[in-house]
Amino acid sequence: MNSKVTVVGAGNVGATAAQRLAEKELADIVLIDVVAGVPQGKSLDLSQAAPVEKHDSRLAGANTYESTADSEIVIITAGITRKPGMSRDDLLATNRKIMQDVTSQVVKYSPKAILIVVSNPLDAMCHVAMEESGFPKNRVIGMAGVLDSARFRAFIAEELKVSVESVHALVLGGHGDTMVPLPRFSTVSGVPITELMPPDRIDALVKRTRTGGAEIVGLLKTGSAYYAPASGAVEMAESILKDKKKILPCTVYLEGEYGISGLFVGVPVKLGKDGVEQILQIKLLPEEANALNRSAAAVKELLDAMKKMA
Ligand SMILES: NC(=O)c1ccc[n+]([C@@H]2O[C@H](COP(=O)([O-])OP(=O)(O)OC[C@H]3O[C@@H](n4cnc5c(N)ncnc54)[C@H](O)[C@@H]3O)[C@@H](O)[C@H]2O)c1
Repeated sequence: MNSKVTVVGAGNVGATAAQRLAEKELADIVLIDVVAGVPQGKSLDLSQAAPVEKHDSRLAGANTYESTADSEIVIITAGITRKPGMSRDDLLATNRKIMQDVTSQVVKYSPKAILIVVSNPLDAMCHVAMEESGFPKNRVIGMAGVLDSARFRAFIAEELKVSVESVHALVLGGHGDTMVPLPRFSTVSGVPITELMPPDRIDALVKRTRTGGAEIVGLLKTGSAYYAPASGAVEMAESILKDKKKILPCTVYLEGEYGISGLFVGVPVKLGKDGVEQILQIKLLPEEANALNRSAAAVKELLDAMKKMA
């Protein structure tokens, strides 16, 4: 029997994630959305690409959750993006409600699933998913660090004119302007980039990474990035489904690690069949630790704003 992955939200990120999961033959996929016909239509379209793309993953779309039963992984991309005139708090309140509704349905049919949260504001939505599901912390994981690190890797490869495959990078912290790219732990075939480029170029790439999402929003005018975000979520799902135990930067619930407690923050973790199997604690320099603490403080601010709405 194939593994089953549900993707909630059949918009740009969700549909692209479904496509990548299917093309890699990682699982059978159920695509869910509130809009009637959209998940059904997109999954039918993706199924009809299968003979050409040469995969046998089965895809189905639905507006209710019965067919999601016993999913091993549920990737949650449902939500709305900020509309003109809408405050950050309005967005927070709307997406919280969506996340609560989605999570309660998911849990009803797949009580043992591992949740990969993608919807924004990411760090806050992870809290909502954990609270609503009652799942242990190893089964609620946010996708942000894989994307932010992939952006940093792409910029480093472009700058040094080397293959992206030779570049590894680490970006920690919350998913926002305060994220913490770590040049010391970003390497080309093991050589830290601090030995390969001058500080002003590193600073420029760090800045571009921090504003990577906004750069794409500015170009697209409507909507936000989705190819790389979908790739990030699928890399996490693959590591779990195949029990690969990849070390990836993910948004997880910290209880004292890095001196942070009670918050979802991006740190390196080991992802395997049980979800988060280990949180890696790397020794940070004082300025790196300070940047991570500032980022955690921004996550806390978001959480406090959400609590006040309750
Ligand atoms: N974590 C990250 O790094 C990252 C990166 C990119 C996008 N995002 C976030 O992911 C989310 C999805 O982005 P997108 O570009 O796919 O947006 P999108 O608007 O294309 O898709 C969102 C989909 O969610 C659906 N939806 C809304 N309420 C729902 C509900 N209650 N149940 C099921 N489906 C519901 C909508 O109908 C829509 O099809 C957004 O919140 C976006 O900000 C996060």
